[in-house]
Amino acid sequence: MLKAVERKIEQYVQELNDPEVVALYHQLPHGKRLRAKLILRIAGGDLRMVKTAAIVEMIHAASLLHDDVIDDAFTRRKQPSINALYGNKTAIMLGDILYSKGFFELNDIDRRVSKVISNAVTQLSLGEMNDVLLSEHFNTDKSLYMKMMYQKTASLIEASAEAAALLAGKAPEAYRIYGRNLGLAFQMVDDLLDITSDSETLGKPALHDFVEGKTTLPYIYLYERLDGSGRSKLREMHARKLSREEQGWIMEQMQEHQVLIQSHSEAKRLIDEAIELMNEVGETALSDIAREMIERNF
Ligand code: FPP
Ligand code: MG
Repeated sequence: MLKAVERKIEQYVQELNDPEVVALYHQLPHGKRLRAKLILRIAGGDLRMVKTAAIVEMIHAASLLHDDVIDDAFTRRKQPSINALYGNKTAIMLGDILYSKGFFELNDIDRRVSKVISNAVTQLSLGEMNDVLLSEHFNTDKSLYMKMMYQKTASLIEASAEAAALLAGKAPEAYRIYGRNLGLAFQMVDDLLDITSDSETLGKPALHDFVEGKTTLPYIYLYERLDGSGRSKLREMHARKLSREEQGWIMEQMQEHQVLIQSHSEAKRLIDEAIELMNEVGETALSDIAREMIERNF
């Protein structure tokens, strides 16, 4: 059924009647299509569901195009990003085109769905801004980090699940929480992988987040556990290139204080809650998606 979503996106892009845009679109790596998968599993594969899934994936793709410009990222899913290949202007414009076409099509779906999705995009944008602002300083406030993560990543996944439930005539509450938990856990696992995966697997240098100024949950937990001199040492390393020894020190401290395990258990708790909710409403296929999320290599 995901094939139908790919075809729908393709159709929307063709409708723009611009060969340049079609060619650029074809250079975007597809990714896992997690949001589309959720929508189809919750609501089935009718045309309206396929359209909604296609729209959400177009918005998501647009947000990543803009994010790579904002993050100065030259790779996306292990391939050169559009900004790396064609510059920032092209990446921003392609994002704008996909995003606005998605919104145009959204008008025809359902008023409640339009509201849920457009509100999530506002959250997404606020989240991106807060991500940038938080990384300008050494943030040690967990609640600020969680709020940003909810906005930046969980909001659109939550909205996808809620929109699908609305379209399918299912009570949206459980699906909304399911989507939110999945989104938060997804980002938490992503943050862990930034620390635990080698640069080859990840397609970016190790501890990249910290070098970029991002103090993700494991760093916040580590800071809480370190003594005065450890804290100063960690602060001093923030947002700059790290030597091999410095990387080693951070990893050692993280192992010693078990902060990776702590972050992983937190993500797992969210997933367990999501699984339980879906089991209660008899949606075992959705429980499986949640389970897969936490079982990514960590
Ligand atoms: C990736 O985060 C970024 C997001 C999930 C959201 C980006 C949102 C915007 C740029 C604002 C919305 C814009 C539009 C056009 C809808 P990351 O940098 O932590 O993850 P990464 O490692 O995948 O880059
Ligand atoms: Mg990024």
